[in-house]
Amino acid sequence: MDKVTVPIFRERKGKEKLTMLTAYDYTFANVVDSAGIDSILVGDSLGNVMLGYPNTIPVTVDEMIHHTKAVTKGTKRALVVIDMPFMSYHESIEQAKRNAGRMMKESGADAVKLEGGVRMKEAIKALVDIEIPVMGHIGLTPQSIHRMGSYKVQGKGKEAAALIKDAKAVEEAGAFSVVLECVPRQLAKEITDMLSIPTIGIGAGPDCDGQVLVIHDLLGLLGEFRPKFVKTYINIRQEMDTSIKNFIEEVRAGAFPDDAHSFH
Ligand code: KIV
Repeated sequence: MDKVTVPIFRERKGKEKLTMLTAYDYTFANVVDSAGIDSILVGDSLGNVMLGYPNTIPVTVDEMIHHTKAVTKGTKRALVVIDMPFMSYHESIEQAKRNAGRMMKESGADAVKLEGGVRMKEAIKALVDIEIPVMGHIGLTPQSIHRMGSYKVQGKGKEAAALIKDAKAVEEAGAFSVVLECVPRQLAKEITDMLSIPTIGIGAGPDCDGQVLVIHDLLGLLGEFRPKFVKTYINIRQEMDTSIKNFIEEVRAGAFPDDAHSFH
């Protein structure tokens, strides 16, 4: 199958739903890509699920590049998008260009993603102007956790107008797509109908042009806590737990390795 490029991704709007999952290393990227996903996001959720940080705030440009390099090595077809971490594009346009350029050159990603609407319009435009494709991200933006206080649905009631402005700003700045995170489904539909670029929903209902999930959530790797929008397709954590316990028991009982798993 042909490589998914930015124009191919963008042109799928209104034709066929887009699929996106996160991956943070070579093996997971390879599994997700072979299964036929359209796009792999190396999200800064890396901080939560791979590095054990309490939120995405501490994630660095170097950490994003390190993991994305492995992902691009494991990916043949999917469009690889790298997240710009907190404070890597907030200081100035020059800083945004320097970091995005470095992240593209060193990681091999096809595009960057950054959080923010109206306030990030100039930064998005500056990156697009130097040939760096940008995916926007509005609604619940985890890098704003300290302003928001908690991870909650955005754009309810009076907040809806501001979210619509954010969506328009991202499109006008030249982004090729936008993530809508934790937005009421009716508002997500309104924004999807209004924009000419694809919307990728996470907790934004079924009417977006595509859907993204964190792979650890889909596989049930993180244990009991699950946001409402997450569908766990398999409980891998339980399977892992059982397998590891079997290994421990067999080693202790002298049952592993048996003759079949030994050299002669
Ligand atoms: O970092 C991430 O994984 C994300 C997705 C949740 C959209 O931004």
